[in-house]
Amino acid sequence: MSNIKNKKILLGITGGIAGYKSAELCRLLIKQQAEVRVCMTQSATEFISPLTLQALSTKPVHTDLFDHEAEAAMGHIELAKWADIIIIAPATANTIAKIAHGFADNLLTTIILASHAKLYIAPAMNQNMWQQPQTQQNIQQLASLNIKTLGPAHGIQACGDTGMGRMLEAREIIAELAKNTPQTLLTNTTILITAGPTQEALDPVRYLSNRSSGKMGYAIAKAALQMGAKVRLISGPVNLPEPIGVETIKIQSAQQLLTSCQQYAGDSDIFIATAAVADFRPIVQSQQKIKKQDDRDKLTIELTKNPDILATISHDFPHLFTLGFAAETEQLITSAKKKLKSKKLDMIAANQVGDNLGFEKNDNAIELIWHDGQISLPMMDKQNLAFKLLSLLAKHYRNCNAAY
Ligand code: PMT
Repeated sequence: MSNIKNKKILLGITGGIAGYKSAELCRLLIKQQAEVRVCMTQSATEFISPLTLQALSTKPVHTDLFDHEAEAAMGHIELAKWADIIIIAPATANTIAKIAHGFADNLLTTIILASHAKLYIAPAMNQNMWQQPQTQQNIQQLASLNIKTLGPAHGIQACGDTGMGRMLEAREIIAELAKNTPQTLLTNTTILITAGPTQEALDPVRYLSNRSSGKMGYAIAKAALQMGAKVRLISGPVNLPEPIGVETIKIQSAQQLLTSCQQYAGDSDIFIATAAVADFRPIVQSQQKIKKQDDRDKLTIELTKNPDILATISHDFPHLFTLGFAAETEQLITSAKKKLKSKKLDMIAANQVGDNLGFEKNDNAIELIWHDGQISLPMMDKQNLAFKLLSLLAKHYRNCNAAY
């Protein structure tokens, strides 16, 4: 599914020869199933007819702040509120300067000032105009206002110069928009994710743990957020920054992980367990540092079983859609399938580990298994893998919920 499907996009066109590319952009946006409305400055209408854009968008084109008829149909404030995304293509040096300094002297700049939509500009101008420090400062000002500049490209210009200033091609603009627009497959879901290792204390300075870096779980948390979910991440000790926009809860031991999961599972919809939980913990946690003691060559530490967090949560909170990870050094699929059943999960990601695989690495590969199917997600960057995994999970989650 395209990221811009169903998005309400206002296409702003300003006066430049690249205006002819805006017609193609309008057509491609509609092909992506975006809802498109067009606003043109007066000078844009000198380069391309509003009628062309009206025919392509099948909606009246907005050109005039003081057009009573157009304002009565959809006023500029309504249009500003309507848009999810505003893309100005082409954006002239003049309009860029106006936006950078908050001018609102025509319909387009007024809408921009009145809107909270994500704003993109695709500059198009002569290479000298682009290089001028005034323009470059304006572009920097836009970046500081969280306005994204797409392009320009280098090449031969309409005036005969060669250099930076050509507007990106319509398909390139679409690709940039899609890349920067969050996927919404997980909108209206709350996802609880566990990540990283647990540390099981032996004494105040020593613990039992494992090699999990948290990279897989954190990548899933970031992807879930971008895909529209509300995300809570319960994390063991890792050296990763807390993902912005994700509520991150830090724990150390398996027992703390369980308590935290129990606290948040009730108001979650999906539970994803990537954490590498210690299966056992020392029965005794010495209050003091265990001494070496020269008279002994051996130290025996007795361990007791930790709770199985995933199995407990899936049992106690049956409303949750559950995805476990099975880290295996042998019999990958058979063992993962056993865990899928014994822990009563909806899905499991069979993860080959050992031999420099899985743990700590930036790349990973999994076999995603559910009760009547499975699919291989080959070796790739953990962030990419997270997006692919969640797209598949979202499909199953929606199917599962549609059944009720
Ligand atoms: O963190 P990285 O360095 O990026 O590495 C990622 C990873 C390899 C740790 C991750 O991809 C992974 O495979 N995580 C699962 C690790 C694991 O503990 O697997 P397991 O087969 O032992 O456990 C199966 C499932 O039960 C897991 O979802 C685990 O979180 C859960 N479990 C296990 C034991 C336990 N006591 N409680 C649990 O909830």
